[in-house]
This record gives sequence, C-alpha cells and structure tokens, in this order.
Amino acid sequence: MKFQVPRGTRDILPPDSERWAAIETQARTILGSYGYREVRTPIFESTDLFVRSVGESTDIVRKELYTFDDRKGRSLTLRPEGTAPLVRAYLESAGLRQENPGRLFYLGPMFRYERPQAGRYRQFWQIGAELLGAAEPAADAEMIDLFVAILRAVGLPTVKVLVNSLGDDACRPVYRDRVRAYFEGHVDRLCTDCRERLTTNPLRILDCKVPACQPLVADAPGVLDSLCDACRDHFAAVQAALRALGIDVDVAPRLVRGLDYYTRTVFEVHVATLGAQNAVGGGGRYDKLVGEFGGPDAPSIGFSIGMDRLVMATGKPLPAGGPPEPDVYVVARAPGAAVEALAVARALRGVGGPGAATPLRVMADVQARSASSQMKVASRAGAKRVVFVPPDGDGYAVRDMIGGNDEMKQPDLDALRAWLRARRAGSTEVA
Ligand code: HAM
Repeated sequence: MKFQVPRGTRDILPPDSERWAAIETQARTILGSYGYREVRTPIFESTDLFVRSVGESTDIVRKELYTFDDRKGRSLTLRPEGTAPLVRAYLESAGLRQENPGRLFYLGPMFRYERPQAGRYRQFWQIGAELLGAAEPAADAEMIDLFVAILRAVGLPTVKVLVNSLGDDACRPVYRDRVRAYFEGHVDRLCTDCRERLTTNPLRILDCKVPACQPLVADAPGVLDSLCDACRDHFAAVQAALRALGIDVDVAPRLVRGLDYYTRTVFEVHVATLGAQNAVGGGGRYDKLVGEFGGPDAPSIGFSIGMDRLVMATGKPLPAGGPPEPDVYVVARAPGAAVEALAVARALRGVGGPGAATPLRVMADVQARSASSQMKVASRAGAKRVVFVPPDGDGYAVRDMIGGNDEMKQPDLDALRAWLRARRAGSTEVA
C-alpha cells in the first residue's frame, strides 16, 4: 500500500525546512524586541470557542472547520486560527491577565478545509501577535509597525498595507443596513451563498470570493460615511500615528476580513509577488471578544502572518542541497571501535562547552561500514576533519580533509578536545 500526503497539505523538507526555521527565528527576534512573549496553545479546542468568536455565518465556521467528537462525545475542532485560543488561554491564566497590556505571540499550524491552490493549504502556519487590553490608537499603530518590522527583517521591505474601520456597536448596524439595502437591489446578480448572507450577515458579502459577485462588491457603499464620531476619530488617529511612524497605508473602505470578531480597525498586508493569494497576513481590533468570553472589558488588537505565504514571498525555493558538512567525522578503525566512535563523537560535539555559540557538527558511522568506506562517506559528506578511533586505545590520529594532510596525533580524548578547541577559537567559539 502506498500512502500520500493528505490533499491540501505538504511536507516541508530540507532545505526548505531550514529556511522556515531561519524565518521563524527572525520573526521571534523581532517579536521579542517589541516585548511580546510566546504562548503555545493546543491545536484543538472545543468547537464552540471558534463558533462563538470567528462567527457562525463566516465561511471558516460554515464550511472549513475540521470538527470531530472525541471518545466522550465532546465536539472538538482543529484550530482554524490563533486569536480565540490565545484569548481563552489569557483568560485562564491569572499570571498573564496581570500584564497590562498583554503582549503575546504564537506560532504554529492552523487548519481550514479550503480548496487547495497556490498559497492556500488545509494545514498552514501562522505567526500571530496580540496586544490585549489597550484601546488607544497607539496600540493599533504598534501592531501594524510590528507586522511591517517582521516583514522587513525577513527581507520584504515593500509591502502594501490596507486599513479600514468596521465601526462599533453604535455605527456598524447603520453600515450593515446600508450594505443590505444596496445588495437587496441587486439580489438577482448575487451568488447563492450571498443571497443567504443578505439575511444572516450582509457584511460577509463584501468578503465573497466568487468572481460574479466582484463587480457588485466593488460598487458597494464603503464604511467610512457610516462611522460614528468616536470611531471616525479613532481611525483618523491611527492613520496619523502610522504616518508619524513613516508607514504608508491605503484606506480600503470595503475591507471586512473573514472573521466576525472585529471592531474598528482592520488591516491586511499585501505583497505583490504573491499574486492572487497576495495577503501575507492581516488582523484587526476585537474590542468585545475578551468580554464575550467572560473576561473583563479588554479592548484588544492583533494580526497573523501566513508563514507559507511569507516563505513564498521571500524568494525562490532553494536548490535541493545535501545536509550541511560535518566539522568532524569520527572513523572507527575496526568494528570493535564503533561504540567508542559514538562516544568520541558525543564528546567532540561539546567542544567549547556551554559557552560555545554552536556545538560542533560531528558524525560517526552506525552501519558497520569498513574504515575505508567510512572515509569515503566522510569525504562525500564534505567533513572538514576525520578523527580515527583505533581499536587499541593508541591515541587519536587526525586528518585535515581540506588540506589533505595528517595532523598531530592526540594521546587521549582530553588532549583531542583541547586541540580542537584551540583550532576553533577565533572562529565560531564564544567562550
Ligand atoms: P486570517 O486573515 O484568517 O486572520 O489569516 C491570516 C493569514 O493567514 C492570511 O492573510 C494568510 O496569509 C494566512 N492564511 C489563512 N488561511 C490560509 C490558508 N488556507 N493557507 C495558507 N495561508 C492561510 C486570522 O486568522 C486572524 N486570527 C488574524 C488576527 C489576529 N486578527 C486579530 N488577531
């Protein structure tokens, strides 16, 4: 029987996995420099958590959830996004709640049953940040600045930031009614889903991806004339703050995004190189969600960056390469020395001790190869040095594989370690 990776998912193989890890490290560094700390939540949660936050009438909840009953009949769902789980975790932890505001981030796989295409997968990765308990426009500005800083750190300086305001409980109903009235006038041109949305949640029509609905959406009323004074002032202050930070934004008055928890500011970041799926990420304010989850009144804002798209946007796939070269390959000169070779390899990795920037990369044979085929393996792998483990405890010979000459034989392991350490000093070693 032959198995295949499930539809809409893929394996991230080396060297791509190494590029992913490097990008994750850069993102973590920036998040840390802004004072954000990581939260790891489970990849499944109770289904209600998503239904009540993302929203019953969204595509995510209606069509895209991976939902199952566990053995006790509890309905669980693989997380389609990270905000609702993070808010749940925040409310469950007295320690986190004390931080005011809470600055948190997460990184991990999300699951949506979507039609797979370039840049859209059923398992995809997000890096998300959330700023909990800050209502002021400066919080919105920090979030967008942080988003852009992450993109800059991974080598994407030119991006397009779209911003909009969805209003609040006072003014959104006014806008919703205007949008409903507009689409009611064109009901015969709407797709079947959008006809249903007219009654359930007309703002969702603005987010419809069906091509036939696009011309209608493009002419739909924008939100800005419907905003109440408080929301209008907030939005103006956010834009002024972004200008002061030197971040260019485009106002997109029909941007609603695909989740129902948003209030006021929403934003999306686009990268031209991504083509049709060009939103590398997005986010917005959710001033009511923490309260709706039974918490205190804690206006909040956050974003998620799609890792898959981020990696795509940062450049061409690397050519398939072999594993990185070992610093040392330990060759057992006789079958009886194989286990000692493993022990020597382990000891040499630690050269430099705990202060070393990175341990040496050291490999040894685990396939009972002859000494001469081990040498061939070492040379094919591009090992810089070979250390020979003799069968008789007669010291360790060393060969410099780059220069092709033998180096001074070391009488014991301590001497060998000291000798290697001295050669490493001044290169990568710190202590
Ligand atoms: P979202 O717009 O649903 O927002 O997702 C954010 C990003 O995740 C998208 O812009 C995209 O890059 C990536 N993404 C979404 N679905 C897929 C997919 N099927 N395949 C590949 N990438 C995908 C949220 O998830 C909100 N939680 C953002 C947020 C955080 N709002 C406030 N805080």
